[in-house]
Amino acid sequence: MLLKGEIALVTGGSRGIGRACSLALAKEGAEVIVNYVSNESAAQNVCNEIKSFGGTASAIKFDIGNPTETQEALQALLKEKKTISILVNNAGITCDGLMMRFPVSDWDSVINTNLRGAFITSQAVIRSMMKERKGSIIHMSSIVGIMGNAGQAAYCAAKAGLIGLTKSMAKELATRNIRVNAVAPGYIETDMTGILTPEQKEGILKSIPLGRVGKPEEIADAVVFLASERASYITGQVLAVDGGMGM
Ligand SMILES: NC(=O)c1ccc[n+]([C@@H]2O[C@H](COP(=O)([O-])OP(=O)(O)OC[C@H]3O[C@@H](n4cnc5c(N)ncnc54)[C@H](OP(=O)(O)O)[C@@H]3O)[C@@H](O)[C@H]2O)c1
Repeated sequence: MLLKGEIALVTGGSRGIGRACSLALAKEGAEVIVNYVSNESAAQNVCNEIKSFGGTASAIKFDIGNPTETQEALQALLKEKKTISILVNNAGITCDGLMMRFPVSDWDSVINTNLRGAFITSQAVIRSMMKERKGSIIHMSSIVGIMGNAGQAAYCAAKAGLIGLTKSMAKELATRNIRVNAVAPGYIETDMTGILTPEQKEGILKSIPLGRVGKPEEIADAVVFLASERASYITGQVLAVDGGMGM
């Protein structure tokens, strides 16, 4: 087991990619704290599945778009656990539309959840990591944060922002033995991409050299690797897991 003795917090760990990360981290021996915002039963299902194979898990509700709620929840959590050694900033939302007609309120909510949420969550957790001189943080960016995408200006800006945040945090925290990396998924089959029309899906598929969509478990494998000592000399990097889409 690669992660025995570690405590991992996965934001948006209740569904999709976060769910797969929670299960994969637990399979490698980490205790997993599964964050969710609205779908309590999905979060409980993930915890039950982890417990069914002998792992340890609990669910925690907070909205990463709400700084006070996030800070209070994490303060309480860190009173109970001495530290969190693995943080996966995975929770995210999409809200698409052409820039000409895109409401500023939608821009704010996409940036607040996807980018500011990762900043606030990291800020609340790094003090304990710094004390322990140990930690691995993984931000869930996106290949469109590197490539850009028409109709996704806010989402792409947030995901590109996460890459800047990754590199800055990696530089600030390296001397405390805290590694910070990003994963940039391509097109992965989850509820988030379930809303795409068949025509949109077909168009995206044509741009993927491997010729298929990705599975959440394929992102989780990259996250486990970056979280583990197998990646002990890797920090400040962006690992694309995209079937070659971003080449
Ligand atoms: N799917 C893709 O193709 C793809 C590609 C590139 C990057 N990504 C990124 O990967 C991450 C996960 O995507 P996904 O496809 O797995 O999404 P998803 O299926 O829509 O799941 C989203 C998860 O995030 C949680 N969440 C949403 N808003 C939250 C908030 N304000 N506070 C706390 N939790 C919140 C949800 O909790 P509830 O269950 O409580 O609603 C859920 O667990 C996102 O950051 C996304 O941008 C996805």
